[in-house]
Amino acid sequence: EKPEIGLLGLGVMGKSLAVNMASKGVHVAVFNRHVEKLEVDIAKNFAAEYAGDFSFPWFDDLSSFVKSLSRPRNILLMVNAGKTVDIVIDGLLPFLEEEDLIIDGGNSHYKDTSRREKELLKKGILFLGAGISGGEEGAKKGPSIMPGGSKKAYDRAGKYLEMIAARDRKGDACCAYTGPEGSGHFIKMLHNGIEYGEMQLIAEFYHYFRFAYNFTPEKISAIFVDWNKEMRSYLLEISADILLKKEEEGFLIDKILDAAKQKGTGGWSTNAALELGVPFDTITAAVMARNISAIKEEREKAAWLYHNPSAEKKTQQQNFSDLFSAYKSASIINHAIGFSLLSAASKEYDWNLNLSEISRIWTNGCIIRSAFMEELIKIFREVPDENLLLHPKIVQRLKDYRGAHRLVAREAIEMGFPMPVLLAAQIYFLGYTSGQSSANMIQAQRDYFGAHTYERTDKPRGDFFHTEWKPEL
Ligand code: 6PG
Repeated sequence: EKPEIGLLGLGVMGKSLAVNMASKGVHVAVFNRHVEKLEVDIAKNFAAEYAGDFSFPWFDDLSSFVKSLSRPRNILLMVNAGKTVDIVIDGLLPFLEEEDLIIDGGNSHYKDTSRREKELLKKGILFLGAGISGGEEGAKKGPSIMPGGSKKAYDRAGKYLEMIAARDRKGDACCAYTGPEGSGHFIKMLHNGIEYGEMQLIAEFYHYFRFAYNFTPEKISAIFVDWNKEMRSYLLEISADILLKKEEEGFLIDKILDAAKQKGTGGWSTNAALELGVPFDTITAAVMARNISAIKEEREKAAWLYHNPSAEKKTQQQNFSDLFSAYKSASIINHAIGFSLLSAASKEYDWNLNLSEISRIWTNGCIIRSAFMEELIKIFREVPDENLLLHPKIVQRLKDYRGAHRLVAREAIEMGFPMPVLLAAQIYFLGYTSGQSSANMIQAQRDYFGAHTYERTDKPRGDFFHTEWKPEL
């Protein structure tokens, strides 16, 4: 009997997904191109490595790989996002027939996915763009999967994705059809945006504890462990773990260079927010924090030139509960910001996204799983189209936290410590909760120098006015 799935691309994620699928009883054929330089046959070695447990038909030639599969074919691509995906699809096309189906499981840009889906549809080929989160371990034990594309494609191949996905509390798959076009990859991009925000928030609390409080990594780890009793956040959990890792005498964290890398998804979500006109403070701040971290040499020079005296003072031992409240407040706001972009994209592209269901598939397997994500399932059921910050439960919580959030933000500034996500969250919160903004002045300035016109508070919305601001010369 021929394999039901062909998996193309045996990188870390591809290998783990192949093993995951095989362990669920799916017959999987694997392909990896022969890498001349390495003189290793990746596909052959992989099949040999698992020969005791599973039988993976392996290929390094596309035509035989495609021909080996049962029809209509299901091919899962696990290759690097970008040009490679187009090259691989072009390579496959001559061997494919109508009704064959391709799933792109990489971190592709949603616009590329929408384009590919359209192009392939013209040729009668079905396409799904599936965001997959959870890293190597998730891929092996059960990731969170966000597949978008045609419903017909999902009805055919969704069962395989559901089979390998993580399970939520009720035992349902952390995988669900997200909507048409590039919606699955858009959602994955947003997952990563929220991920960037949460990572930076934890990083800046670590940094504050380490250098303003002079706490040992061990002590900070204990604080994070304590916080995580309530948060049950995967990212907080691994951060507590990281802080305990020792190398010889010292802690490994103290030896890791403070210059962050990124593959782009966080920045892509900021781009999408700019395109859709959505306020996106925390996630953008997290991307910028990575950018500024990357210019290490320049920072060192500036640190020497500007020598920040307050950064040497130690903080007053303040109430830890304020720090925890500030952390929780910023984290809620970061989630609200992320989901608000999903909402906006859903309206703009007519995707009809279900935010409650998206929260559900993010409760396990993915990087941003947490107790809060569990709560969001219900919250978004109650306010499916509204900003999270308008939900009565969240209003109550943020009112409780706001004093602490401001206090910690103020103290960090006074001490000379950058806490970009904590501050960005507070700025978003203040802006979002201001009935009267400063934009009347912006409108007046625009009208003054460019006759761009303005609306008035005493006239209906949509009526525009212009003023001759200066007497005729
Ligand atoms: C996930 C992660 C993953 C991401 C890496 C690296 O959900 O499993 O988001 O998909 O690609 O964590 O991302 P950066 O290099 O941009 O930090």
